[in-house]
Amino acid sequence: MFPINRPRRLRSTPQLRRMVQEVSLNASDLIYPLFAVPGESIAKEVVSMPGVYQLSVDKIVAEAKEVYDLGIPSIILFGIPDTKDTEATGAWHDCGIVQKAATAVKEAVPELVVIADTCLCEYTTHGHCGYLEVGDLTGKVLNDPTLELLKKTAVSQAKAGADIIAPSGMMDGFVQAIRQGLDEAGFENTPILSYAAKYASAYYGPFRDAAESAPQYGDRRTYQMDPANGREALKEVELDIAEGADMLMVKPALSYMDIIWRVKEITNLPVAAYNVSGEYSMIKAAALNGWIDEKKVALETLTSFKRAGADLILTYHAKDAVRWLNE
Ligand code: PBG
Ligand code: ZN
Repeated sequence: MFPINRPRRLRSTPQLRRMVQEVSLNASDLIYPLFAVPGESIAKEVVSMPGVYQLSVDKIVAEAKEVYDLGIPSIILFGIPDTKDTEATGAWHDCGIVQKAATAVKEAVPELVVIADTCLCEYTTHGHCGYLEVGDLTGKVLNDPTLELLKKTAVSQAKAGADIIAPSGMMDGFVQAIRQGLDEAGFENTPILSYAAKYASAYYGPFRDAAESAPQYGDRRTYQMDPANGREALKEVELDIAEGADMLMVKPALSYMDIIWRVKEITNLPVAAYNVSGEYSMIKAAALNGWIDEKKVALETLTSFKRAGADLILTYHAKDAVRWLNE
C-alpha cells in the first residue's frame, strides 16, 4: 500500500485534531495595552486603531475590571500627559498620568498585574525616547543622562503601584540602571520586562497617533534596531539577561517571528511578543472592508506567536480574542 505515511489520519476528526494540537492560545497569555489621558469621562477613539481609546483614569479603571473579569491577567499602561517638556517631567513625576492610573487600577482591581511602560517619548516635546542635547535637531539621544531619567521614572511607577516595569526605549544599560534604581528604593522584588529586541519599525505608526509620541524631527534609528538584523537581537537579549532582566520582549511580532524563535532558543526567561499597532490596524482595516474574517485572522495570528515561542502576547485584540475563545 502506498503511501504508508498518512499525516491526514490524525486530522480526520475534531477530537483527533484537538489531541495533537501543539500550542493553544489562552486568556492567561495576553496583556492588554491601555492609553491613559488626564481628565474625566474621556474615551476618545484612536482613528487609526478602531476599538482602541485614549481613556481618562476613571475609564481606565472600568476597563481594567472588564479585562480582569475576562480572565486576562495583565494590562500595560501608556500615558499621554497634559504638557510635554525636554526633561520628560510627566514620565517621572509622582503625579504623572501613568502613576495616577496605576494607583487607581491597583486600588480597584488589586489582582490585575499592572505593567508600566517606562519610556520618555510620550513626555518629551521632541517625541524622542530620551534626553537630547540642548539645540539638537537630529534626534541623537544622549544615552547616560537618559538612564537617570528612566531610573526616576521606574521608581516613581513602582511607588505608584506598578507590578512590573517595562523599559521600551532601547537605551544601552537601561535594565541595569533601572534594576539598581528599583533596588535602592526598596523595590528589589519588582520584575523588569525589557523591550530587549525592539526594531525601528513602520508598524508603530498608529501607536504614535494613540500616544501622541511621533518624533518631531529625526527618527529612532540611533536607538531602535535595523529590521535587517537578527544576530544583533540576540546580542541585545544577552546583554539584558546579564543586566538582570526578568522577562524579554520582541517587538514587533508579525514580521519578527524568526526573532521570537531565536530568542526563545537562547533563554529560559519568559518571552513576550508585542503584536503592535500597525499589525492590529491592518487586520481591522481589512476586516472593516469585508476582505478578511477578523476573528479567524486575529486568532490565527495570535496562535502563531505562541507557536513561534512567545509565552506572552501584548495585543490590542486581547479582549476580542478572549470573547472569541469563549464562544
Ligand atoms: C516607544 C514605544 C513604541 C511603541 C510602544 N512604545 C514605538 C515607537 O513609538 O517607536 C509601539 C507600540 C505599538 O506600535 O503598538 N517607546
Ligand atoms: Zn519611547
